[in-house]
Amino acid sequence: MRVHGKAYRTIWETEDGGGTVTIIDQCRLPHEFVTLDLATSGEAAAAIRDMRVRGAGLIGATASYGVALAARESGGNPDFIARAAESLVATRPTAVNLAGAVNRQLEAMSDAATAGERIAIAYRTARSTADEDADWCRRIGGHGLELIRRIAADKDGGPVNILTHCNAGWLAFVDHGSATAPIYAAHDAGIPVHVWVDETRPRAQGAKLTAWELGCHGVPHTLVADNTGGHLMQHGMVDLVIVGTDRTTRTGDVANKIGTYLKALAARDNGVPFYVALPSSSFDWNLRDGLREIPIEQRGADEVKYAEGWHDGRLTEVLLAPASTPAANYGFDVTPARLVTGFITERGCCAADQASILSLFPEHA
Ligand code: MRU
Repeated sequence: MRVHGKAYRTIWETEDGGGTVTIIDQCRLPHEFVTLDLATSGEAAAAIRDMRVRGAGLIGATASYGVALAARESGGNPDFIARAAESLVATRPTAVNLAGAVNRQLEAMSDAATAGERIAIAYRTARSTADEDADWCRRIGGHGLELIRRIAADKDGGPVNILTHCNAGWLAFVDHGSATAPIYAAHDAGIPVHVWVDETRPRAQGAKLTAWELGCHGVPHTLVADNTGGHLMQHGMVDLVIVGTDRTTRTGDVANKIGTYLKALAARDNGVPFYVALPSSSFDWNLRDGLREIPIEQRGADEVKYAEGWHDGRLTEVLLAPASTPAANYGFDVTPARLVTGFITERGCCAADQASILSLFPEHA
């Protein structure tokens, strides 16, 4: 995607060729565009834990590079790499892309005959993981475009109004995004689209990140407070909901940012199609019951009690609640498959049930 006229991915190898990687520090957006070099696996783990990088695909790609950095800094030492892999996986529990990417690295490196080969394989695998993520998101854009085109053709005029929650944009992946890829593709194809952007408390990924990246790409959008979606749907102001996911079971239960379930309920009550866009790396093929089996990250209470924003040229936190009030911070919720109209994947669209999912991904049957 382009930022200030220059094409960026969200993670890339630093130009000196030494193996360090660079990320965009998402904690500083939208106020400042700052990049950050990650030279060690510890720095990669910290970037994921502190949410300088976040979103399912990007934490997978960062963790994969984290393993490569561990290989580099230890001269290919397998014990060091195994410990680094463990601490990378422990950074955030819900997005399955993270463990998936680390396991892929460990499997690929198990073929290495020498330490040098181990390092080379780790970087090759990290590059493939990142390239694949970008390519799959691009394909999701193509399939979702057809869906938006059909909705546009059925409308009497005006833009296709799409509601999205959190940030499943290019910032959440290596490029393009999952939920945003069809939106960018439709906008680029000349189909008028307008996006309702849920603010997404407590960390405001919608307000800070989705609004920023849609603005960079010139996509018309309106920021709304989290509880607005139901009202908009009741008044015919939403044609389609597209969200992302951090982990989806083989039966179609969807874990996504907290509040997604309520949007799905409102969509069902108002007959609004509710789609989930995901690369296959966000399916957890081992799970069948999302509510019981998907681990839900709980984060610090201060994220709920304080709001962070830009004041006098710097990031500032303000206290919203009584200082002594206890707060709970569940990061994700699970939308049962029965509330999902369909999935948009890199291989095409399908219904939210096991048979339909497996018809696109028969290798997991
Ligand atoms: O906590 P985050 O910001 O890493 O959460 C991830 C998300 O941005 C959302 O849940 C998103 O909709 C799915 S990730 C592609």
